[in-house]
Amino acid sequence: MARQDILQLLTTLPGEYVSGEKISQQLNVTRASVWKQIKQLQEEGFEIEAQTKKGYCLRKTPDSLNAWVIEQMLGTVSFGRSLIIEDELPSTNAKAKELAREGGIHGQVIIARTQCSGRGRMQREWQSPKGGLWMSIIIRPNLSLANASKLTLAASVAVVDALKELYRLPVGIKWPNDLIYNGHKIAGILGEVVGEWNRVQTLILGIGINANFPRENLGSSIAAATLQEILGHEVDLNKLTAAILLHLEKQVSALEADMFEELCINWTARAVGIGEEVKVIRGEEVFRGIFRGISQEGELLLETDHGEVRFSAGEVRLRSKLGTYFGEPL
Ligand code: BTN
Repeated sequence: MARQDILQLLTTLPGEYVSGEKISQQLNVTRASVWKQIKQLQEEGFEIEAQTKKGYCLRKTPDSLNAWVIEQMLGTVSFGRSLIIEDELPSTNAKAKELAREGGIHGQVIIARTQCSGRGRMQREWQSPKGGLWMSIIIRPNLSLANASKLTLAASVAVVDALKELYRLPVGIKWPNDLIYNGHKIAGILGEVVGEWNRVQTLILGIGINANFPRENLGSSIAAATLQEILGHEVDLNKLTAAILLHLEKQVSALEADMFEELCINWTARAVGIGEEVKVIRGEEVFRGIFRGISQEGELLLETDHGEVRFSAGEVRLRSKLGTYFGEPL
């Protein structure tokens, strides 16, 4: 008997008691083993009331990450329908790549409560303490090669929209896909290709959100902020996961339907720094100019004294003139 079966029975009639006898009959197990499973569920954070004669009643599901709870909240077709949560992984992106190579399906999600070797863009270390949302999604999109690279832009729009919907939080996107609140980074997205670009079109979208922990847990990163600090309370990570996956599925479907122009408009509407003087750093080279937005290919458009220059996400870093505005000094 899976604990899921008990939860399923307890949720058929929300707020009502289900007798131990009924559960044991329906699942063909002893009442003692039902009680044992109930105790385990309570330990996982499910608030289940137990009353002699009446039975069990599910009062509240946990706010901490739980695959069953996420599944109940999901409004997606495929994203998150297969979902794994691990206590600790080196990196969910690395695990997702491994699963993708073994045949992991489109929309499969891997979440870790903490990562000991999390990675950010440009091979940077990504601090992933307990309380954050560290997840990766396997995407096998029906997209041309050129358009697949736009998936990270779509992901940043999806996360911004989920945060706005749940917490009314006005979050901006720093090109290409850092999420910024009040000059501080609260989330990042890392897109990685599995296999060769021109053959297997599988992409891993890694999303990291500084959620339920104080900023000090990130060590040195003064330019970061966490949802807990901004909102003054912890957030329900299950709800946040389900909301992101729904927005993400919509964005990916829109891209598949060739709606890049719309994505471009949506991304631009959420972007920070457009029209401002910025510095673009490519290795040792520094380009100064006005940030004019993104091209149809998702490249950064910089208006310099020598004309327009385009940059793709993999190669450059962006700095604003207003130092802290982008969370990093100029
Ligand atoms: C960045 O802003 O540089 C991108 C950060 C991406 C972090 C996420 S957390 C889940 C997934 N696993 C990783 O190792 N990285 C991504």
